[in-house]
Amino acid sequence: MPGLGSRIRTRIETLRSVLHFRPIELDPVQRRLARAVSVADLRRLARRRLPRGVFDYIDGGAEDERTLAANSAAYARVTFRPRVLRDVGAVDPSTTLLGRPLPMPMVLAPTGFTRIADPEGELAVARAAARAGLPYTLSTLSTRSIEEVAAVSDGPKWFQVYVWRDRGLVKEMIDRAARAGYEALVLTVDTAVFGRRDRDLRRGFSLPPKIGLETLLDGVIHPAWTWAFVRADPIRFANVSGQEAVGDGSDAVSLADYINSQFDPTLSWHDVEWIRSVWDGPLVLKGIQTVDDAVLAAEAGVQAIALSNHGGRQLDSAPATLDLVVPVVDAVGDRLEIICDGGVRRGSDIVKAVALGARACMVGRAYLYALGAAGERGVDHVLRSLDTDVRRTMALIGARSIPLLTRDLVA
Ligand SMILES: Cc1cc2nc3c(=O)[nH]c(=O)nc-3n(C[C@H](O)[C@H](O)[C@H](O)COP(=O)(O)O)c2cc1C
Repeated sequence: MPGLGSRIRTRIETLRSVLHFRPIELDPVQRRLARAVSVADLRRLARRRLPRGVFDYIDGGAEDERTLAANSAAYARVTFRPRVLRDVGAVDPSTTLLGRPLPMPMVLAPTGFTRIADPEGELAVARAAARAGLPYTLSTLSTRSIEEVAAVSDGPKWFQVYVWRDRGLVKEMIDRAARAGYEALVLTVDTAVFGRRDRDLRRGFSLPPKIGLETLLDGVIHPAWTWAFVRADPIRFANVSGQEAVGDGSDAVSLADYINSQFDPTLSWHDVEWIRSVWDGPLVLKGIQTVDDAVLAAEAGVQAIALSNHGGRQLDSAPATLDLVVPVVDAVGDRLEIICDGGVRRGSDIVKAVALGARACMVGRAYLYALGAAGERGVDHVLRSLDTDVRRTMALIGARSIPLLTRDLVA
């Protein structure tokens, strides 16, 4: 029987072998990110840090949010048929899109009013995208201008257009994007009129946010956001800054009133022809939701379409975009490139869409949650995690390159 002293020594040694204290992280952003292992974690962090009205503007969808939920649910329904013993020692998720090589099949979607999540807004996202080598799509309704974004990013950049009633203004923006080196034009076609977003309506949400009693309290509860918002220069629709006739956001407006008064609901396939006549580079139609329209897009000679319902923010009960991939690829996959947009929350989602035949995915909220949670470093973090996820998933299903990522790997 060992003596008491020896028993105590053994216990202490056992305890020492299992006790591992992580070094204390003094940087608060790093501390936050270390615990954010998924997009869902980043969403929770953003929800805590952003005023409720701002979070709801980012997070919400149209009406009963059925399409918003359906976009992600469609990914959950697809399962893998993993193959094994296929040498996945070196996984390469690189691909090409619109003729340009990309490190992985992903594009950052256009999101209006990004500075509401973080004062650096579009500049932060564009810099992070450039570091990752991924295309960043700047929204027409951005809060940093076409030129400001070009000045901070030498990565691939796309410009998204909404068609204003004033075609001269649209042409001028397209010319500015061409001069500033944007590589592709994305015409959003699902916003003939503005979708009804119940969360924003309930709160009377406007851009920039109006300070009423409710917002004031919300601001007090979220001091970090409020302090940053107050210190930064005012948020404006930067691409139309100073243009009184269209309103540049100096006065608070509801987005619905703005879009319904400024954007042209008579937009038609003729306008697609007109856009093609004023833009030399590749054109992407974003917001295609049926095979019939995908066929018309191919006939119109566009280079790519984004299957998109605006992240469930426009027409509720529109189809989940992932469900459109197979029929659209089968109908027009040999004539144009197909991007799947909406609901991506994991790298494995991107792998599923690409296996079904999409060329790439567009991702919106995932980077906005990250921006709201931890600013520019948050965006770096989420882009890195999605990349790691894509590589791991490809290894686990036995596809070491994008050409080997075929439809038989999903069910
Ligand atoms: C806050 C927010 C603002 C958006 N603004 C625009 C916009 O200005 N133009 C546009 O074409 N799409 C816009 N979208 C839609 C996105 O481009 C994209 O279609 C959508 O976010 C994809 O769904 P996901 O968020 O589930 O990835 C916006 C989306 C969000 C969440």
